[in-house]
Amino acid sequence: MTHKIAVIGGDGIGPEVTAEALKVVQATGVAISTTDFDLGGARFLKDGEILSDSTLAELRKFDAILLGAVGSPDVPPGVIERGLLLKMRFELDLYINQRPFAGMAPGHTKPHDFIVIRENTEGPYVGEGGVLRRGTPQEVATQGSVNTRMGVERCIRYAFELAAKRERKHVTLVHKTNVLTFSGNLWERTFNEVAAEYPGTGTAYNHVDAACIYFVQDPHRYDVIVTDNLFGDILTDLGGAVSGGIGVASSANLNPARTGPSMFEPVHGSAPDIVGTGKANPTAAVLSAAHMLEFLGEFRAAERVRAACVAPTSGSTSEVGDELARRVAAG
Ligand code: IPM
Ligand code: MN
Repeated sequence: MTHKIAVIGGDGIGPEVTAEALKVVQATGVAISTTDFDLGGARFLKDGEILSDSTLAELRKFDAILLGAVGSPDVPPGVIERGLLLKMRFELDLYINQRPFAGMAPGHTKPHDFIVIRENTEGPYVGEGGVLRRGTPQEVATQGSVNTRMGVERCIRYAFELAAKRERKHVTLVHKTNVLTFSGNLWERTFNEVAAEYPGTGTAYNHVDAACIYFVQDPHRYDVIVTDNLFGDILTDLGGAVSGGIGVASSANLNPARTGPSMFEPVHGSAPDIVGTGKANPTAAVLSAAHMLEFLGEFRAAERVRAACVAPTSGSTSEVGDELARRVAAG
């Protein structure tokens, strides 16, 4: 079966790292067909298109979406993020953002290996709120956080299902229940109720500020972490920083119900400062593509790609891509 992949290279280094990811996928021998979608900041500046409903309808026809990075310094903040990236996450109901972290944190001699499950369709990301008296001394800005029982529960349930398949079988809830008492309480109660259905799985709770310390000082305590959209966003940059850098941090935006395609993208952004220099590390994009292969049921190919990324690489963007493709072909 040929998997139909929509490719959004996007802006900055996005197209560069995506090309290498596709090179490595090709080396697995898995049959894919790719269709390029010209979307992102550059496209917006060209003709105003961000993500029209008809383009979104096109994207729905694919088995998966591979995305490089979007965002351009010439476009005001939020336009592409909300109009393209978040629109895809919300409209395609990509309610899980799965971000694995493995490596040796600075100063440690023992490797860690954990996965952050970030809720991806709610929280402060929904854009609830507004502005009054803009630009005046009396300006008021509110930015709400939406947390639904359904949304929180399906995310927590996913984390427990994932942990049940892992060796350590442990889930940590990260939130800020001591201050965000309304949403925190909903998360905590739901977590405890779902946990009761998984008696073989261990649990813990960390406030998000404490979790930041543990990410640096004791990341080994974690197996699966489940958290809300904004905490997950911030924590996963830190996760990248203590796990070999943002250049190897991969992510999967998943619709586990499979009512539409899932989207796979590196955690990093478009890095316009290094575009065209060959300095971008394509490993994060390659590992995101490995997750795509796994989600498409190509387990063996996904394993081979991940195995190829274990040993260190060096060189330019395309040299690293070539080397990873060579390892996959040989593996
Ligand atoms: C991420 C990014 C996005 C987010 C931005 C680009 C909207 O930082 O995927 O982590 O905040 O979710
Ligand atoms: Mn982020």
